[in-house]
Amino acid sequence: MYKYFNNVVSIAKALMIKRISKGNIVVDATVGNGNDTLLLAQLVGEEGKVYGFDIQESAINNTNLKLIENNFNESVYLIKDSHENIDQYVVDKADLIVFNLGYLPGGSHDIVTKAETTVIALEKSLDLLKENGLLLVTTYVGHNEGKTEDRQINKYFSVIDQKKFNVLKFEFINQINYPPVLYCVEKNKL
Ligand SMILES: C[S@@+](CC[C@H](N)C(=O)[O-])C[C@H]1O[C@@H](n2cnc3c(N)ncnc32)[C@H](O)[C@@H]1O
Repeated sequence: MYKYFNNVVSIAKALMIKRISKGNIVVDATVGNGNDTLLLAQLVGEEGKVYGFDIQESAINNTNLKLIENNFNESVYLIKDSHENIDQYVVDKADLIVFNLGYLPGGSHDIVTKAETTVIALEKSLDLLKENGLLLVTTYVGHNEGKTEDRQINKYFSVIDQKKFNVLKFEFINQINYPPVLYCVEKNKL
């Protein structure tokens, strides 16, 4: 577990560690450099399944290498496509789905997640979640594209039925320079 909650990435990780068990089915909707994908693969173990999406070939390749180096590639299915098509690949209901939005650290800032496609992907993700499943979404409000995306996501999550979902927003209100924001959505048992 993480000792300090001083950034949303730590909080997202702590929630993943708390909620994921061996054998779970999980989705990393933005694999990037594969840090979350590796953690997810370790948490679900050989008996679980991780689906990973990214539109960049380099992200898919780097993630694949990271998984192979750590001997955790067996249970991971990497898909080079936009997460808005998540329902075309993920056939099982998921225990947890994670989105770490924005651009690839160290990569082109022009290849960035976009509000319109992200919201489609989030809608489909809520459908794909199991009862008691969790959706984690980190947004980056320090750049214009990210700010617009965060606004759209906030608008969308604000009106979803509270009988069906619990929606929580983690935001550091005393930090300078527009720190990232984390949304945590839990699907209720009906
Ligand atoms: C902030 S990075 C993810 C970091 C990653 N979770 C990690 O642990 O390294 C965001 C990623 O989203 C990817 N991306 C952008 N648009 C996408 C889309 N429509 N579908 C899937 N991935 C997308 C980018 O290529 C980039 O690699």
